[in-house]
Formats: sequence, C-alpha cells, structure tokens
Amino acid sequence: MRIALVGASMRIRAFVEALKSDYADSHQICGLMDIDEGKMLGFNEVVGLELPCYTDFDHMCDKVKPDLLLISTVDCFHRDYIVRALDRKISCIAEKPLCVNAEQCCDIIAAQQRNPEVFAATSHNARYHVAARAVKKLLDDGVIGQVNSVNYTEMLDQEHGTSYFRRWNSIKAISGGLAIHKASHHFDKINWWLNSKAKTVNAYGGLRCFGADASPFRGHHCNTCPYFDQCAYAIDYEKEEIYHKLFFKHNHAGAYRPDRCVFSPEIDIEDFISAGIEYGNGVLVNYTLSAHCNYEGETIIFEGNKGRLEMIRRKRPEGEFSSVEIFRFGTTKPEKIDLKLESGTHGGADKRLYRDLFGGEKSGRLATLDDGIQAVLVGVAVNESIKTGQSIDVASLI
Ligand SMILES: NC(=O)c1ccc[n+]([C@@H]2O[C@H](COP(=O)([O-])OP(=O)(O)OC[C@H]3O[C@@H](n4cnc5c(N)ncnc54)[C@H](O)[C@@H]3O)[C@@H](O)[C@H]2O)c1
Repeated sequence: MRIALVGASMRIRAFVEALKSDYADSHQICGLMDIDEGKMLGFNEVVGLELPCYTDFDHMCDKVKPDLLLISTVDCFHRDYIVRALDRKISCIAEKPLCVNAEQCCDIIAAQQRNPEVFAATSHNARYHVAARAVKKLLDDGVIGQVNSVNYTEMLDQEHGTSYFRRWNSIKAISGGLAIHKASHHFDKINWWLNSKAKTVNAYGGLRCFGADASPFRGHHCNTCPYFDQCAYAIDYEKEEIYHKLFFKHNHAGAYRPDRCVFSPEIDIEDFISAGIEYGNGVLVNYTLSAHCNYEGETIIFEGNKGRLEMIRRKRPEGEFSSVEIFRFGTTKPEKIDLKLESGTHGGADKRLYRDLFGGEKSGRLATLDDGIQAVLVGVAVNESIKTGQSIDVASLI
C-alpha cells in the first residue's frame, strides 16, 4: 500500500516509525505534503527518509498516487484534506480532532455521503489503551448493570498543560480550544463506552493560569524573552535536537516557533473546563478538564445499577500506573481487574491502533468518521455553552 503524509507533524513521526519498522513489507511511504518547506526538510532528517516533498496537495496526489493518506496538520485544516481525499477516492485516516467546528462536521458528512465506498477513519488512539479497553468490555458485559452517571476528571500536569499554550493549539479558531483539541479524546471514549451520543451540554470555562491576565510580565517567544530567567515556563527548544531540526534549522527567523509566550494576549482558549452532559440513553456525565495540575492523570467513575466502576490513570515522578476496579453492591471488597500494562507511546495504545490500521487483524475498535464527528460536536457544544451561557442541544448543531 502506498501511503502519503499530509502534515509533517510531530505526531505523524510515530506512525512513520511504525511503518518503517513493523509494516515495511506491506506499506511504502511515498510522499509528504505540508505548507512549510523547512519543516518537511527537518522531518525527512528526523525520520531518516528522503520523502518527496510537496506544498500542493493535488500535485502530490497526482504525482505519487497514494492508496492512503495520513492527515495530521493543524486541526482546522483536517476537514479540507479529508473532503479532498474522499472526492479523489483516496482512503484517509485523520488525526483527532477530526475538525474544529460544526460547519466542518457538515462538510465531512457530505463528502462521505458522496463517496460512501471510500475508507476513512479517525485515529482516536485513546480507545486502545489497556484500561480503556477493559472498561469497554466490563460495561458491555453489564458488570455494573445500567450506567446512570459518569464522572470524568482529566488532569494535565504543568509540563503537558503548558505545551498547549505555547503552540498554535492556544488559538481557538484553529484548534477548537481544549474542549475540542484535547477533550475530543475523552468525549470519543465516553460515546464509545456508553454506546450513545451526547444530547444536551451545559458548560463553563475560564483562562486562569495562562494568557494575558495570568502574569505581570510577558515576552513574544522564549528565545528572545527578557524574563527567561524568572519565568517558570521558559523553555529552550533550540537545544533539543528534534525541535531544532523540525522548527529552526531549515526555517527563517520569522517562521512559526512552538515556544510562544504562554502569557500572550493572543491566547483565547480555556485552561479549566467544566461540563454537564446528558446522553441520549439518559446517562448523566460530569466532565472536568484542568490544564494546570500538580500531576497528570484521569479519574473516571461509572455509577451503575449493580455497582461502580473506577478507572484511574496517573503519571507521577515515581512512574505511571493504571487501574480498573469494580465495586459491586452487597460486597465490601473492590475487585481489581488485572491490567497487563503495555509498552510504547500513549501507554501502548498507538501500537494497537497501528495494528488495526496497517496489520491484518481488525479489532473493531477503530473510530469511524462519524465517531470523530460526534466527539467534535460535544466539544463544539461545550464551547458554545461557555460562550453563550446557554444549554446546547447537540443534534441541532448540524
Ligand atoms: N492522537 C494523539 O495522541 C495525538 C497526539 C498529538 C497530536 N495529535 C494531533 O496530530 C495533529 C498534529 O499535531 P502536532 O502537535 O504533531 O502538530 P505540529 O505543529 O507538529 O504539526 C502540524 C503541521 O501542520 C502543518 N500545516 C499547517 N497548516 C497546514 C495546511 N494548511 N496544510 C498542510 N499542512 C499544514 C504545519 O506546517 C505543521 O508541520 C493535530 O491534529 C493534533 O491534534 C494527536
């Protein structure tokens, strides 16, 4: 299979490494397209390939004739490439979030309806984590009976949280904000676990720890900042080899840099979000995302008619752990599910996703375009509710 990459992104490097090592017999990467020529040169160096580079999508498709496109650009451009891929009858896999607003969702739906025979998927890798898979099986097996409510707490530690505020991700028009850019992972999992869709959303959000009001001082980028030595978030990416090759070595001084000041007045996304979501099947979900936490992790609690299911993931200096426990009514001891922790990026989830995408074996877990859209729509509703203070009917968005 001939694969072409749309977006010389940090993220797609992991796919390339897997294709080069585990799927080289059956898959050939044949081209790379991006609007940034310097990034493509750096990308080739980082992944150790000499992929032909293109700044024009149609030109690349005409030249290299790919069977499959891996789309991983700045989020707001995924829609354009998905639609163009489908209309050219080329299969595609797009990174999450599938797109960033309701209009883009409609365009993707229309393109899929025009081209129902063309394979397309969303790479929602979080479904593939060992703990997420265990929860799915337990819920589908009815272990806690009918689910009544879910409490989902997502915590990004200072390092991870800050990373979103240095980059393009901090501009809502192009990333959808964390309600879409980040939480689409979580909303997809909730939709998948509950076998349902979000119906109504009420949300609140704020920008507390980053942005213009969070600091008495600010610069433009860390590399030129006069406050570098006194800023808790200052970072020197030029010293990091991969960043140096991707972002600086081949680019001119004014090009995009991923070290913009986290106190920039341009930042317009939330760092704290709280949402109440009613699902079509009646389940009530309470979701919070905090992007400035002491430690990283998530706590997800399902309350069912027969008991409670808890999934906990933590990343702390002493290491990472995940647990899934069942608390049945009528018993005092929780039952711990034996999770065989897996190695690799995103807790082994990526490896399993690649197996579904490029291997012979299909697990049935792969998110469709509609799954990707449903995850985005919850985030769109969260953003809309934060903005208007109104309760949002998700189905009415498209
Ligand atoms: N599933 C996951 O776990 C996961 C993890 C990280 C990132 N992601 C997703 O991967 C994607 C890439 O994220 P990243 O952090 O690696 O980004 P990145 O900043 O490293 O790369 C984005 C690339 O898009 C290119 N680009 C911008 N506009 C373009 C356009 N109009 N056409 C073509 N290319 C364009 C940029 O030049 C850049 O090279 C995002 O959608 C992000 O949400 C997913």
